[in-house]
Amino acid sequence: MLELTVNLDERSYPIYIGQSALQDNGRLAHHIGDCRPVIITNETIAPLYLERLLAQLAPLNPLHFIIPDGEQYKSLAWFEQISAFLLENNCGRDTCLIALGGGVVGDLTGFVAACYQRGIPFIQIPTTLLSQVDSSVGGKTAVNHPLGKNMIGAFYQPQAVFIDTQSLHTLPVREFAAGMAEVIKYGLIYDTELFAYLEQHILSLQQLDEACLQHVIYRCCEIKALIVAQDEKEQGLRALLNLGHTFAHAIEAQMGYGVWLHGEAVATGMVLAAKLAQSRGDLSSDDVARITQLIAQYNLPTAIPPQMTSEQFLLHMRKDKKNKKGTIRFILPTQFGQCALVDDVTDDQVRALIEQ
Ligand code: NAD
Ligand code: GLY
Repeated sequence: MLELTVNLDERSYPIYIGQSALQDNGRLAHHIGDCRPVIITNETIAPLYLERLLAQLAPLNPLHFIIPDGEQYKSLAWFEQISAFLLENNCGRDTCLIALGGGVVGDLTGFVAACYQRGIPFIQIPTTLLSQVDSSVGGKTAVNHPLGKNMIGAFYQPQAVFIDTQSLHTLPVREFAAGMAEVIKYGLIYDTELFAYLEQHILSLQQLDEACLQHVIYRCCEIKALIVAQDEKEQGLRALLNLGHTFAHAIEAQMGYGVWLHGEAVATGMVLAAKLAQSRGDLSSDDVARITQLIAQYNLPTAIPPQMTSEQFLLHMRKDKKNKKGTIRFILPTQFGQCALVDDVTDDQVRALIEQ
């Protein structure tokens, strides 16, 4: 079992990565401590993994709550349903929520944990690649509002993260590819060696080779932990994790959530960011070709939806959470393997890029 720590003083916590992290009941029980565990999961994941988790935690008398599957349930309505379940079961502050699932379950459970009785402990057991390398680490929790995604939330760190690489064997191939977009992102913002590794191990990763998976997931979590430890609440450095996301959020909003998976939109967003960086003289055409090729090799889209116009991009991007004083801010590569927050991109440069 691999282990690393997110260093945040008294809120520091471990991330465990391994083939049987879900079966490691001793460690899990240790982090639950004297609390009563309440597992939150969804209707797709429950038949796959809930029974074994319940069996492991049987001595702790666990409860569980199953939500429907889908981004639309990361909502205030389901926040309320879970809160009502906890109240009906007389759950007090000595309750530990366990998020068993992807980013939807993790974000929603984390937000309930942040608010219920002003904060109770929670543990992440992420089961998608995206949640294992990104959303379960770093304490961003949220629900969506009809007027915007992730608009109501809190920074609230878990007690521990248990990443079981075996859970990826039941994940649909398209969801795995979407997670790879976030993996590629870490290579582009921070680690050219990781990027080269991804180029060299495409088949092994797609075939879920255990050593490759553990290497890549560990490195992504390590990079995220380093960044979060320096900038937990996204005052600066943490924004780099949003490479490709300004364009991605516009695609997701315009197409309707779920039509493009988040990771797919991020993949295309990274290609657009790379091209924008090229037009500013920061990346070469070879760099852009290398980035585009790797993204395509992981079966991710590299081109914008053909019907989407530059005005539609601008309309959505003007609502981005990174914006300041009405200026759209982008994360762009400044050289291969490094990125920066940029606030001097003009609307005309965006139009030229989209219409290219
Ligand atoms: P998801 O949670 O919707 O999971 C994707 C699909 O895979 C779902 O149908 C789910 O039921 C299924 N699934 C999950 N694990 C499975 C498994 N092991 N086997 C079979 N099926 C499985 O999507 P996601 O990509 O994990 O997360 C997306 C969410 O994460 C979005 O809401 C996004 O806003 C959020 N997010 C949050 C952060 C953060 O820092 N908190 C970062 C990135 C994304
Ligand atoms: N997923 C971006 C972040 O955690 O900051």
